[in-house]
Amino acid sequence: MGRMHYANWGKCAQAKVVAICDTDPDIIENSKKAGGNIEGADQAVDFDALTLYADYDKMLADKLVDAVSITLPTFLHESFSIKALEAGVHVLCEKPMALDLASCDRMIAAADKSGKVLQIGHCIRFWPEYVKAKEIIDSGEYGKVVSATFQRLGSAPTWGAEDWFAKDDRSGGVALDLHIHDSDYVQHLFGMPKGVQSFGSPASGKGLKCVVSRYAYDDDKLVTAEGSWAMSPSFGFEMSFNIVMEKATIVYDCSRSPAFRLCPVGGDALTPDVLKGDGYSLEIEHFAGLVSGQIMPEVLTLQQSADSIRLVNAEIESVQKQKEIRL
Ligand SMILES: NC(=O)c1ccc[n+]([C@@H]2O[C@H](COP(=O)([O-])OP(=O)(O)OC[C@H]3O[C@@H](n4cnc5c(N)ncnc54)[C@H](O)[C@@H]3O)[C@@H](O)[C@H]2O)c1
Repeated sequence: MGRMHYANWGKCAQAKVVAICDTDPDIIENSKKAGGNIEGADQAVDFDALTLYADYDKMLADKLVDAVSITLPTFLHESFSIKALEAGVHVLCEKPMALDLASCDRMIAAADKSGKVLQIGHCIRFWPEYVKAKEIIDSGEYGKVVSATFQRLGSAPTWGAEDWFAKDDRSGGVALDLHIHDSDYVQHLFGMPKGVQSFGSPASGKGLKCVVSRYAYDDDKLVTAEGSWAMSPSFGFEMSFNIVMEKATIVYDCSRSPAFRLCPVGGDALTPDVLKGDGYSLEIEHFAGLVSGQIMPEVLTLQQSADSIRLVNAEIESVQKQKEIRL
């Protein structure tokens, strides 16, 4: 994910990348090795013009940077974000914010105290088709939402050092690592649900292989989401949604063409215009705008990012206790 942030910072006119920090000498010294599920992540990058660090504390002490992208394993998000904020550095920290609510609260307190920006990388709130779907729903033009379902499917990540993705106390498993994108988007569209009921298939060892959740609201709309690391590796990755309103259905499936359609009742389907770029470039532009003091639209708050941790942890609890968890 560090490659993705690096590439998108390169496109951001307001910023210049000056340093990179990674403890893995293969990455930091020869800049060749990278794995992962992000397109282009395996391409070599020329780090010659950058100051390279293996020690994060030294990087902060050198005061070269105004802002940092934190793309570390999840269990390090809290401590590395707080260190940067305490050093007076703005932070764009990858999702999930942290593994539990207490960590989120400490991150929020550190951000408040520092007066610096802390933004969590909920890129789906910035993803062009997801942005457009929210606009269409909020416009009310097609009536109320009747049902909405979201999917995010792939195979288990295998590239993390010491297999950190497979360890629930490091990654939070499929629910906190992958499925949180949709839980957070559900919250973004409809607010926090009043309860959640989830079903899961256990992974070998501990944790879950996949999770399916139903989010309960005061009205009778049916909202569900599925996140999976159970697919075969040759499947690749897919994200999709169907949102049914009284007078139209919106569908998105990244593996279809056209991927995005608005299908009105009694009319032809069309593909609405969406923002240029992707969720990664747009979240970085948003963060850069906040850091440079521009007035930006409120897309996400730290409390909402923490609420997504609360929501997903309730989903995990629901699987474990085999009952609905009230929020
Ligand atoms: N928003 C998204 O769509 C998206 C996609 C993929 C990953 N992520 C998130 O990004 C984070 C990283 O995921 P990844 O796939 O890039 O993981 P990764 O394991 O590939 O990369 C983590 C990097 O951190 C480095 N590192 C570990 N400890 C360090 C330390 N103490 N100091 C400096 N560097 C250190 C490792 O050497 C490695 O290069 C996770 O939280 C993940 O959930 C988000």
